[in-house]
Amino acid sequence: MQQADIRTQWEGAAPGWARWEATVAAWMEPATEAMLAMAGVDTGARVLDLACGAGSQTLQAARRVGPQGHVVASDIANTMLHHVRENARAAGLTNVTTLAGAAEDLDVAAASFDAVICRLGLMLFAAPAQALAAVRHALHPGGKVAVVVFTTPAANPFMAQPMQILLRHAGKRPPAPGEPGIFALGAPGVLERLLVDSGFVCDEQRTVALPLRMPSAVQALAMMQEAFGAYRAVVSDRPESVRVAAWTEVAETLTAFETPTGFVAPAEVLVAAGVKPA
Ligand SMILES: C[S@@+](CC[C@H](N)C(=O)[O-])C[C@H]1O[C@@H](n2cnc3c(N)ncnc32)[C@H](O)[C@@H]1O
Repeated sequence: MQQADIRTQWEGAAPGWARWEATVAAWMEPATEAMLAMAGVDTGARVLDLACGAGSQTLQAARRVGPQGHVVASDIANTMLHHVRENARAAGLTNVTTLAGAAEDLDVAAASFDAVICRLGLMLFAAPAQALAAVRHALHPGGKVAVVVFTTPAANPFMAQPMQILLRHAGKRPPAPGEPGIFALGAPGVLERLLVDSGFVCDEQRTVALPLRMPSAVQALAMMQEAFGAYRAVVSDRPESVRVAAWTEVAETLTAFETPTGFVAPAEVLVAAGVKPA
């Protein structure tokens, strides 16, 4: 998928992503904390948040760095950045600015950041190695990048099964190795290899289990349909009859995660950090 298509895909998903952002933020909380700590997002730091979405982790970073620090929130979709600015203003944070553009084309001064974070973005980029080269340029020597990606389909059935269903209905093949996709960087060793090949020293890696809990499977389906750009994109170019049949089967599949206390689905992410050598 080309960058222009990825931008269109996420511009379309941005209002839905903003609507569901509190749910995603609560779901991802343990991984977000690990990412911020592993990147060294501390008082006074200059931080770049790549693929920031509506910015829940941007705001967390901004609170950690305080008024002496600064966070630049960057995303390929302008609508996402609009939400970041609104959310920062509502939170009374004056140390957040935004930068529109693809991570691969990042244009910032060399060595101008202490830390770079990227939550649930890198595996979706058309050219993640190119983005990491730009990150390396942006970091000062000794600076760190920390990334959150989903691990494997087996550990994330709530994510994997609907994707398979949508692809089958759309008559499309799953992404080949090296192509962007939800699980593109989650297999053992893949993210570490990418970081090392991009000139980073692998600092720390942590697998974090974070089951998704929601009131019902209907709510989980709505979040996927409204907010998950990569899912919406699979069937967006197919006739309505195909879209309806695909999402009806996804809805049935998600009921398997209903429990007496609501929707509970296992999920797992990898948090990994790399250091730019001095
Ligand atoms: C799954 S969302 C994650 C958003 C946010 N980091 C979070 O965790 O809430 C993926 C984000 O990546 C952005 N994105 C996708 N491809 C990108 C690229 N090549 N460069 C920059 N942002 C990109 C999308 O616009 C979207 O905001």
